[in-house]
Amino acid sequence: MLFNVKNFTRMFAVVVLVMGATMSVAHISDARADDDEDEGQGPTVSNAKWLAECGACHFAYPPRFLPAESWRAIMSGLDKHFGSNAGLDAATANEITAFLEKNASTKMHEVSGKPLLRITETRSFKSEHSEVAARVWKNPKVKSPANCGACHTKAESGDFNEDDVKIPK
Ligand code: HEC
Ligand code: HEC
Repeated sequence: MLFNVKNFTRMFAVVVLVMGATMSVAHISDARADDDEDEGQGPTVSNAKWLAECGACHFAYPPRFLPAESWRAIMSGLDKHFGSNAGLDAATANEITAFLEKNASTKMHEVSGKPLLRITETRSFKSEHSEVAARVWKNPKVKSPANCGACHTKAESGDFNEDDVKIPK
């Protein structure tokens, strides 16, 4: 029975199948690990003026979530900033712009011509949040997708790891 060709072929097929499955699972988890490294916890950078001025009305969004051209566009339109006036004196604005540009995302390339002004409109934000149910965004405790701290309990320290996500009930 040792050299039964039929059995051998069947076993071989099973081995190939199992190997194939293991390999594709390994591949997926690798990709996720990369994502986590890149997005969950970025370098913790700070600047006193950025924290005070850009953290006055909302959470001070970490520079790594937008490319430099987006930050430049935001900083040059602060007097008409999402319906608010967030205007600053030139020296403060220049210092904050330099800080944002230096730490901006270098891998986000939006296809559209105009730089995006919202993190929540970027492709990476949409894909990272594709599993969040519509009713969650409508929860009054969340208010806006831009309200990162509603779910990311450690957002203030720049930590967006999925382990620290707590969806408000
Ligand atoms: C006077 C209040 C105010 C100040 C000061 C302010 N912002 Fe905002 N910002 C807003 C409002 C209001 C929104 C819209 C929030 C929403 O849609 O939930 C917003 C939204 C944003 C968004 C888009 C969030 C998203 O992804 O949807 C970015 C980026 C942003 N602000 C950056 C900054 C930066 C950088 C500074 C500092 C130079 C700053 N803001 C200072 C009021 C302010
Ligand atoms: C309504 C709740 C909610 C809000 C608000 C929210 N997020 Fe998330 N976020 C999530 C959930 C849920 C995940 C997916 C966690 C998982 O993969 O299990 C996530 C994932 C992420 C990830 C990927 C984390 C990782 O480890 O790969 C990043 C980065 C992120 N969010 C950034 C933001 C930023 C920046 C904001 C604000 C502009 C924001 N989120 C607002 C719920 C939220």
